[in-house]
Amino acid sequence: MTRILLMIGLALTLTHAAGAAELPPLDPAIPSYPAEPLRPDPATEKRIDALLAKMTLAEKVGQLRMGGWSQTFDLEEARSGIIGSLTGAPDAAANAAIVKAARQSRLGIPILLTDNVIHGFRTLIPAPIGLAATFDPDLVRIASAWAGYEAAAIGLHWTLSPMIDISRDPRWGRVVEGPGEDPYLASKISAAEVSGLLRGGIIATLKHYVGYGAAEAGRDYNSTWIPPELLHDLYLPPFKAGIDAGAMTVMAAFNALNGLPATANPRMLDGILKHDWGFAGLVTSDWDSVWELQNHGIAADGAEAARKAILAGLDMEMAGDMFKDNLAQEVEAGRVPLARVDDAVRRVLRVKFRLGLFDRPDPDPKLADTRLLTPAAKKTAREIAAASLVLLENHNDTLPFKPGIKKIAVVGSMADTPSDHMGPWGANGREADVVTTLAGLKARAPDGTTVTFAPGCDRECKDTSGFAAAVDAAAAADIVVAVMGETWYHTAEGASRTKLDLPGHYEELLESLVATGKPVVLVVLGGRPMTITWAARNATAILYAWFPGTEAGAAIADVLFGDVDPSGRLPMTFPRAVGQIPIYYAHLPTGRPATGDQYSSKYIDEENDPLYPFGYGLSYGRILYDDLRILTPRIGLDGVITTDVHLTNVGTHQGTETVQLYVHDLVAGRSRPIKELKAFAKVVLAPGESRRVELKVPVADLAYHLDDGTAVVEPGRFQIFIGGSSRATLSGMVVVEGK
Ligand code: BGC
Repeated sequence: MTRILLMIGLALTLTHAAGAAELPPLDPAIPSYPAEPLRPDPATEKRIDALLAKMTLAEKVGQLRMGGWSQTFDLEEARSGIIGSLTGAPDAAANAAIVKAARQSRLGIPILLTDNVIHGFRTLIPAPIGLAATFDPDLVRIASAWAGYEAAAIGLHWTLSPMIDISRDPRWGRVVEGPGEDPYLASKISAAEVSGLLRGGIIATLKHYVGYGAAEAGRDYNSTWIPPELLHDLYLPPFKAGIDAGAMTVMAAFNALNGLPATANPRMLDGILKHDWGFAGLVTSDWDSVWELQNHGIAADGAEAARKAILAGLDMEMAGDMFKDNLAQEVEAGRVPLARVDDAVRRVLRVKFRLGLFDRPDPDPKLADTRLLTPAAKKTAREIAAASLVLLENHNDTLPFKPGIKKIAVVGSMADTPSDHMGPWGANGREADVVTTLAGLKARAPDGTTVTFAPGCDRECKDTSGFAAAVDAAAAADIVVAVMGETWYHTAEGASRTKLDLPGHYEELLESLVATGKPVVLVVLGGRPMTITWAARNATAILYAWFPGTEAGAAIADVLFGDVDPSGRLPMTFPRAVGQIPIYYAHLPTGRPATGDQYSSKYIDEENDPLYPFGYGLSYGRILYDDLRILTPRIGLDGVITTDVHLTNVGTHQGTETVQLYVHDLVAGRSRPIKELKAFAKVVLAPGESRRVELKVPVADLAYHLDDGTAVVEPGRFQIFIGGSSRATLSGMVVVEGK
């Protein structure tokens, strides 16, 4: 079905393009929360006052602890009221027992159960970088709602997601968990995930606050150095957007920011988050990161670590004992004011009240299974998986498959490894539920078309003994689908890389397949941009699939057979070579732009240009842009810039286009990026169809930040670019007037 999406920056109220996905049912047993910021309300604060008055110091400290669940978790801990939260309980029955034990504690304060529901719970949706690649916040919200619904069904209240760390460094393995390089797109995705999770039935955590994605040299947990202006322009906006959408919890990052670990960083926690933004929810540490303050060299012992963390504004400790072992003594010795502990407890209780945990019945664990992996959830997962796939190359219009294709050779053992279609943080996903690429192609192939399979090598492509058989299979086929990339555990936490080529001997295998002369469609699984420079020139087509989730293979087949038009766009720039990193589209101009001259800003051994730019992706249509109109050529500071552009699909297939608007502030008090994304819209055009598409940008969105966080819009000339990627060249000018 064609749903037409007409755009707009601020009020991106559009619906997703394909239109089959639906929100989960409003189920009386599963809660649903509004997407609005958490604000203290007088009646609840009174109930919190009453509880605080009854609590012992030990019970208060207990509320500030998040246990790390293990098989040996002792229910007695919950029963004695000295644990406020628990992460990682895996099933409905275990959760129900824990909840019951906490209710039996002296004051009956409910426990908050959480887990890493990162991209779906039982029905897995694409890994977060793939969610961002949809450029479709409405669809991301629907898919996140299913994640929340399934998690709530087994009794979880809270997920440790979304990760909304901007990163411009694909060496960092955690880019798979995030929204990519751009603050505008990331903010839309952040709000969509938060509000979707709330609609589904659980609350979100914005992590990792803040700047974790800027780890030096792309090495996980490494320190970051971020000037305040950049922090406000780039790293903070997705957090603010998530809080405005209703996020009630924030997780402090592992790393040190400008020399001060994020776990004990008063400027970030107490200052910006709680004071400047008025955040009324709770801040948790990351896994045992209070203890790690000693490794960072800012605490001599556990007591100092606990003290520094809580005084900086951290409210809860995850999976560590620094609060448990030290906080009461620190209060008794007068080194930590009781008022700070009370404030932290208040924040935890506020979230519990907001969730209704004191007042509503818990879901019946016996019914949990009936709410998992339902046909409607799978339908949404399939739709969003297809929408996340990015078509990078399609020479000779090889895709979609033509009716004459009778023999498809699938090569690469990853084509049939379920876990590499699920990706890292598989939550409750089961391998048996996953449709692999091989299974998806076999299921979709029409009668008379055969699908053969030759692994070629193992999933890391170290053992090349299967190459000859794979080449034979390719030579005997009409078309080759080569599935290659990174295993799920090679793009993940702690999986930083210094080389970003296809791992192992994959490229050699690809070269041999291409040498057969048969068309080779490369399907890449993986969670980050890779330097597929050879493949870009030599493969016949490339579909970048990320980790699409439970319905992966069905979605890949939908796109390869042309049942669904590919519509994903890159949320990160793809480098040609690792030496170009950090590489991102919104860079500043230099005093010596690259020219043929030796003394200009360039490399002597590589182009400046990326392999694929941010925002790039093909569809099966051929969309031409012309006649950009700036409908508000002069505009005041409180105005809304309105533009429109004419699109025509000159191709023979339907085309799904993500129209993108970029801005360049030509002259300002500080150098401004050569382009910044400020609006986008998805449109579907039938062959031969043409249409005008309107895009709007509030002038306030042209602001940049001073180092104290003040946002300023400087009047003057702004160049507007509209096109299908950050390489957009069609441009016009708007003059912002005012003081
Ligand atoms: C990660 C977090 C995650 C936590 C709990 C940490 O290692 O950094 O993102 O939520 O573990 O599993």
